[in-house]
This record gives sequence, structure tokens and C-alpha cells, in this order.
Amino acid sequence: MEEQQSNTQEAMPLFSGLLAYAASRPLQFHIPGHKQGAGMAPEFREFLGSNALSIDLVNVPPVDDLHRPRGMIKEAQALAAEAFGADHTFFSVQGTSGAIMAMILACVRPGEKILIPRNVHRAVMTGIVLSGAVPVFMTPEIDTEFGVAHGVSVSTVRRALGEHPDARALLVVNPTYFGVVSDLRAIVEVAHERDVPVLVDEAHGAHLYFHPSLPLSAMAAGADVAATSMHKLGGSLTQSSVLNVRAGLVNPQRIQAVLSMLTTTSTSYLLLASLDAARKQLATRGCEMLDGVIALAEWARDEINAIPGLCCLGRQHVGSLSSSYGYDPTKLFISVKGLGLSGPEVEQLLRVKYRIEIEMSDLYNILALITLADNDSTVKRLVQALREIAEGVAVRRPRLVHVRLPDLPRLALTPREAFYRNSEAVLLADSAGRIAAEFVMVYPPGIPLLLPGELIEQKNLDYIVEHIKAGLPVQGPEDVSLQTIRVVAD
Ligand SMILES: Cc1ncc(COP(=O)(O)O)c(C=O)c1O
Repeated sequence: MEEQQSNTQEAMPLFSGLLAYAASRPLQFHIPGHKQGAGMAPEFREFLGSNALSIDLVNVPPVDDLHRPRGMIKEAQALAAEAFGADHTFFSVQGTSGAIMAMILACVRPGEKILIPRNVHRAVMTGIVLSGAVPVFMTPEIDTEFGVAHGVSVSTVRRALGEHPDARALLVVNPTYFGVVSDLRAIVEVAHERDVPVLVDEAHGAHLYFHPSLPLSAMAAGADVAATSMHKLGGSLTQSSVLNVRAGLVNPQRIQAVLSMLTTTSTSYLLLASLDAARKQLATRGCEMLDGVIALAEWARDEINAIPGLCCLGRQHVGSLSSSYGYDPTKLFISVKGLGLSGPEVEQLLRVKYRIEIEMSDLYNILALITLADNDSTVKRLVQALREIAEGVAVRRPRLVHVRLPDLPRLALTPREAFYRNSEAVLLADSAGRIAAEFVMVYPPGIPLLLPGELIEQKNLDYIVEHIKAGLPVQGPEDVSLQTIRVVAD
């Protein structure tokens, strides 16, 4: 098939190329064995429809190969790089988790130090176990109003780099799940003064690239690599993400090679095509669409703030945080503690009484995302439901926020060493002096209290027990009751 020429952001070289290929109706003797749905259970074939099935292909030469792109995938990635302001963009069909692991594995070697905030997603810890790198934790700012951990401040990053001049990479989360951003440009400058590349977990920031009044995206701030979830907020299919790369301090070819190592050889063309189409939509209409999204979200924020007992994170609150530089208005992070209800209670009321599903809840808050898909009526329905829930609360007895920073344990083994050692379960009360072989985290504030490889001290146990007694959820350990904990066997 002829290679398409696509020079503008209006083009979708991959999606159009796949359509043209499917229209040529080749007789197929290759996988996938359902062969455009013909060999598939009829119920599922009818549900998906012939359009989707016609491009559920594998990497036969005419449709290029994500592992060695030379045709339509290469063109689609080049257009994406242009749209994101990156030197290179690589498509991921393994979610942002796969992209995060690839950027870590490509940038740090076994035994090398990487600076990371303590409250990272588990994909970061997996990347660290796989790479054999030594994590050096930076403490994120704890927000005692909302009871969560946010980002790291520029001064925390400067101090960490000063104390660890041998660090080989710095990883930050921007924006956080709750929409708070750090001064990423300043963080990048501080790291680049020491030639330390900045890797960004940008799972919640795909849209930042496409509107000037949103916080800076990772590439605009000068970061070196960003794992960006197009599927979360960019409009592509679930599991599709991109890895944006700025050449210089990192090697794009190595990043591509590592991403390829971690990627299935049977890459889904539906996911890849959805990235191409989402990029086109964002690049050509994203700004105008996001105008509407931001206006809707800010309207909802004001309405919610006027409801007694509710408080939505916004400009004023973010201004009081030392680590923060702004917020993403499209995320409605709402404290419900003033209603005397917990986040999960409000989540359940929304689900059962109003058939509304939100993104998440924790003890004190709920999170609702306003995206390219929303309109007046969807947002009004959410606001009205919250208003009714607030009005229905008979006695409002606000919950007290109970968060304080845990003492961070000392790393006795790298997470990788701990992962490969034998482990055994011991009583939590008897575990002081042992090395953790599993992850223990309490919500709030969502900071891991123990990670594999860390030396358990009595003060860590006291903190965990205090949280269990306060009824706060503990996550991670195999024994959810936390009577026992897995430790490295002697
Ligand atoms: C902060 C953060 N990083 C990374 C990820 C992983 O993204 P994905 O689900 O695309 O693998 C998530 C997922 O929720 C996340 O919240």
C-alpha cells in the first residue's frame, strides 16, 4: 500500500491507512484468527460491529509495526510529537503503567539512584524493582484540609538533589490525581543544572497540552520524558497512552527499545488508531473544546462551594499550599467531611440514588472528572445530586481530618533485592527489626508507610496501629487485617 503523505494535524495517517487497508478486503491467513470477526462468537461480533473488527489487525507489513515503525505508525507518532511539543512520541498499548516502567528502565541502571516522591503510583515501584535502581524518597506536601498528599516543592527537590549528587534521574507526578501541580518549570531547571533528567508521571495531564490557561504540560515545562495517559483525559481508548520524549539528557532510541521490550508483539490496532484520532481531535479542536470543559468545571466548582458542608479544591486553597503552583480546574476534588459523611458514603449515595459514578472517594473527599465528553446537563445533574445529598443530611457533624506525616523508614535492601528474597509472614507486633517484603499504605494521606526493602521500626508499627484503630483503610498487605505482615526471611 502506498504511504500516505500527512503534513497537518488534520490528518490521521494511521486510522486512515487502516481503513484503506480494510477496504481492500485482503483474504487473510494470519492472526487474529477471528479474521475480521468471522470466527468470533456471533453475540460479540454483533456487539462490536464490522467497523471495529475490520481494523482489529496485527502488524502485517502494509499496516506497519509499532516495534519498528516505518510507515503509517511512524507518521502518526511524528504528528503526535508535533502536537505535544516533543522531539519524539512513542505510542503505548500497555497503558501509562507500561510507559512509566519503560522510562524508568531506560534512564536508570541497577544500583543507580532515582529521586521520587513517596506517593507514587505502583507502576513507578514496579519500574524500580525491574530496573534494580535505588529509590530516594522525597516527601510530598501533606494537605491537612483535604487530608491528602500532593506534589513536591521546588525546595524539596533542590535539597534532595543536593543530598544525593549522584542521583541519575528525578521523577515527579504532575498533575496529581487531585489536580494539583508543582512549579514544574522550576523543578526542571534545578534538575537540569545538575544534568539530571526529569521524568514525569503525567497520567492525569493529557489535556494540559491543548489549552493555554491550563497548567504547563511536562514538555512545555522542559521535562525530558513524560508518560501521558491519552486514554484517561485525551479521548482515546482505554489502555492507550503515549511516551513523550525530549532528546538531550535522555536517549530516545534507548527509550523506544525498552518500551518495545515491555510491549506485546500483538499490538492492538484499535488502540493505536484511537491514539491517532484523539491526537487529531485535541490538536485541531482541543482548545475550543477545553474552553467549554473549563467553563463547565469552574461553574460546578462555584456551585459546589455554595453548598453548605461541601468544599471543592480551587484557587484559594491551592494558594495556601507551599508545594503547589496551580491546579487543573477540570478535576472536581470535593471535601465532603463538612457533611459528616465519608467519601465512600457520598459515592454510594450518588451510585444508588442518582445512578452517578464518580472517579474515586477517600475518607474525606470525592473526585469527579469533567472531560471533553461533558455538557451542561451532565454537570448540572452532578451538582443537583450533591445539593440534594447535602440537604438530606439531618445532623451535620463535620469529621475531623486526621493526617500526619509518617516517619519514613530506612531502605535496608533495594526493592528489587527484597522482591527476590524469600519471605515469611510474622505477627505485625513482632516485626520491628525485620525488613518489609510488602507494601503497606494507609488512606489518607495515601503515602506508603512501608515498601519492600525497608527496615521496620517500632515507630512505623505504632503509626500503622494508630491508623488501624482510627478505622482508616490500610492497603497493600497480603493479610488485609494486618495481624501479620510479610518480611524478608532471615
Ligand atoms: C498517578 C498515576 N500514574 C500512573 C497510572 C497508571 O496509568 P494506566 O492505568 O494508564 O496504566 C495511574 C492510573 O490511575 C495514576 O493514577
